Amino acid sequence: MKQTLTIALSKGRIFKDTAPLLKAAGIEPLDDPETSRKLILDTNRDDVKLVIIRATDVPTYVQYGAADLGVAGKDVLMEHGGQDLYELVDLKIARCKLMVAGFPDRPLPATGLKVATKFVNCTRRYFAEQGRQVDVIKLYGSMELAPLVGLADCIVDVVDTGNTLRANGLAPLEHMADITSRLIVNKASMKLKHAAIRELIAHIQAAVDQRN
Ligand code: ADP
Ligand code: PRP
Ligand code: MG
Repeated sequence: MKQTLTIALSKGRIFKDTAPLLKAAGIEPLDDPETSRKLILDTNRDDVKLVIIRATDVPTYVQYGAADLGVAGKDVLMEHGGQDLYELVDLKIARCKLMVAGFPDRPLPATGLKVATKFVNCTRRYFAEQGRQVDVIKLYGSMELAPLVGLADCIVDVVDTGNTLRANGLAPLEHMADITSRLIVNKASMKLKHAAIRELIAHIQAAVDQRN
C-alpha cells in the first residue's frame, strides 16, 4: 500500500519559497493557502497532503507526528528545542539573522539588561552563555516597538535587510545566528515511512543543490 505523507507549512514566505521545491518533487497543492480558508490542502498526489499552520507551531505538529514532515526556520527550531524530530535538509530559503538590536548610540547596560523578544529560550541561552544577567520580556510580535516606548533596552529578533530596524531608529548590535529554513521529519515517521520520505528528500535536496 502507498504510504501517505503529511507536510506542515506556514503561509507567507515559507510557503512561497517551499512551493517550487515541492514542485520539483512532483507535489503541487490544489489550493492556494493565501486565498483559501482550508487548513488541509490536497495536492496533485493522493498520497501527499499539506497542513497550513503558524510558523511557530510547525515543530510541534512534527514532534507529535500530526505531520510527518514540515518546514521551519532555524530560529523557530532553536526556540522549540528540536525534540523527537530530525532536521534533514537545509532548504536555504527565508535567509535572515537572529540578532540583538537596540539604539545605535546607546551602549547596553552591563547589568539589569531588559530584552524583549518572542525567542525567550534562545535569548536566555545566549546571554547565560556569556554570563550576562538579563530580564527577558516575552512578546508575540512588533518587537521593534519595545525599546521605543521604554519596555526594554534591546530586542532579539530576526533581521534581513535591516529596514524594519532602521525605520524605527534601531540598529543590529550583536549577531546570534545565521538562519535558513529546514525540512524537518518526525522520528517515528522516518522509520515507518522510510521509502516515501527518502524519495521526497532526494528530490528536494536535488532542487536545493541546483539552485545554490
Ligand atoms: P511569522 O508569522 O512567525 O513571523 P514568517 O513567515 O514571517 O512567520 O517567518 C517564518 C520564518 O521565516 C522565520 O521563522 C524566519 O526563519 C524567517 N524569516 C522571518 N522574517 C524574515 C525576513 N524578514 N526575511 C527572511 N526570512 C525571514
Ligand atoms: C520580520 C521580522 C522583522 C523583519 C525583519 O517581520 O520580525 O520585523 O521581518 O526584516 P528586515 O530586516 O528585512 O526589515 P515580518 O515581515 O515577518 O512581519 P511579521 O511581523 O508579520 O512577522
Ligand atoms: Mg514574520
